[in-house]
Amino acid sequence: MPTAIERFVRGSDLAMLVDGNPVHAVSGQTFESLNPATGALLARLPAADAADVDLAVRSARRAFDEGPWSSMKPYDRQRIMLRFADLVEARHEDLAVLDTLDMGAPIQRMRANLRRSVGMARFYAGLTTALRGETIANSIPGNFQTHTTREPVGVVGAIVPWNNPHIAFIWKVGAALAAGCTVVIKPAEEASLSALWLGEMLLEAGLPDGVVNVVTGFGETAGAALTVHPGVDKIAFTGSTATGQAIVRAAAGTLKRVTLELGGKSPNIVFNDADLDLAVPGAAMAAFTNSGQVCSAGTRLFVERGVYDDFVSAMTAYAQSLSVGNGLDEGTQLGPLVSQTQLERVTDYFEVGRQEGAAVHYGGARLTSGDYANGYFVPPTIFTQVDNEMRVAREEIFGPVVSVMAFDDHDAVLRQANASPFGLGGGVWTNDLSKATRTVDALRTGTVWVNCYGQMDPAVPFGGYRMSGYGREGGVQHIDEFLETKSVWIQTR
Ligand code: NAI
Ligand code: MG
Repeated sequence: MPTAIERFVRGSDLAMLVDGNPVHAVSGQTFESLNPATGALLARLPAADAADVDLAVRSARRAFDEGPWSSMKPYDRQRIMLRFADLVEARHEDLAVLDTLDMGAPIQRMRANLRRSVGMARFYAGLTTALRGETIANSIPGNFQTHTTREPVGVVGAIVPWNNPHIAFIWKVGAALAAGCTVVIKPAEEASLSALWLGEMLLEAGLPDGVVNVVTGFGETAGAALTVHPGVDKIAFTGSTATGQAIVRAAAGTLKRVTLELGGKSPNIVFNDADLDLAVPGAAMAAFTNSGQVCSAGTRLFVERGVYDDFVSAMTAYAQSLSVGNGLDEGTQLGPLVSQTQLERVTDYFEVGRQEGAAVHYGGARLTSGDYANGYFVPPTIFTQVDNEMRVAREEIFGPVVSVMAFDDHDAVLRQANASPFGLGGGVWTNDLSKATRTVDALRTGTVWVNCYGQMDPAVPFGGYRMSGYGREGGVQHIDEFLETKSVWIQTR
């Protein structure tokens, strides 16, 4: 009897999940899932296209329109979701290993996700019993009462990226289920394995067939089919800004509701009075963690002139000390990039930066010696002599690359920090409360971290300003993204 992990990583042909059943693509097409640390084949997955998406949407539609999910009492939905949370908790070590094999992140990082992933599952389970409308006083002559009820938006098409696979699944599906929606989720083609397992766990927890369907395949086919399908009421997307724009255009035909959690180029500001023992590792990992494959990575690092030289040398020493390797090695702090495509994107930016006149202070070339040769490894990379107008300071690189810029003027640095089309995250390091609050108020970003960076919690909303997207995920407001408001007028005698 193979263990759970072995089932997913022995090079076998896996099925996706539609209407409670394991199914292959109608076309019979498959694609390969590779381990980015070694290039080894993990599994073959169904390459879904419009025909498969149609079956999955019909199944979600039936489950929504006919029940029992949408007609179940909140308490009963909650019980299923809590059982799911227990299953995730019991199997979290294996889920962590599976995601590490699939997309490369260090096992330590994946393990540390436990509190958040199980916490999210329980947080959304809690929200099922917290839905409420309001009674409203109106001024209509006569006897009219008015109140609102909240109803699930319907069938949700969830499209997620690969940078934190099992978290992305629970984040999207959890909120949709809490609202009473049904779901077709398309994980990223680079990392779909844990989604298939989590889909099974939902069934095991008692979720009725068809409530969550997992469709594997490419964005341009499976993903795009979801965005135009008339049976889908809402798209919840996390990924690149370009794909987010394509989704908004595609969704216009049916006027689907859309929420978008997109890219970033987040500013991180270190003042002279900052506690450098905190700020140096904090700012380094703000950019390097998960090999920089984090939407809110603090990749534009502004350091005040007085500490700039000391800061850059301390951060360089810190970068040097980071252990880059196979994510399954216990000591690994930075794993490989997720794919050959991502490797090419990131190494192209090394060249772009050089050509624009930035200096590669540390890193800046693919790692190819020994075991590195078979995987997609790059070192943490520090650019100095960067101007905020350069492409390396404007565009999302999604690799462990930070651009460090010196500043003198406090107003000017806040203007520069905001001089970006993105507005996802931001950081400030100072021991001066006034500077900290001024920065918090000035930054046009969905999250600001003060003397820390990157913390996330199920109860704290997360999302972007401007081209980093719209809508908030996490927090009690997340469920609003999956609810309609119905106003009810009642005339009484
Ligand atoms: P992507 O945005 O193309 O892919 C994310 C998800 O969208 C995947 O599931 C993909 O299959 C799907 N998708 C792609 N095209 C689609 C379409 N036309 N319609 C519907 N779904 C579609 O991102 P990708 O290609 O994986 O990475 C490219 C860059 O995007 C990265 O280098 C990074 O800069 C950024 N990115 C940002 C993320 C974030 O969390 N903000 C996550 C992943 C990527
Ligand atoms: Mg893509």
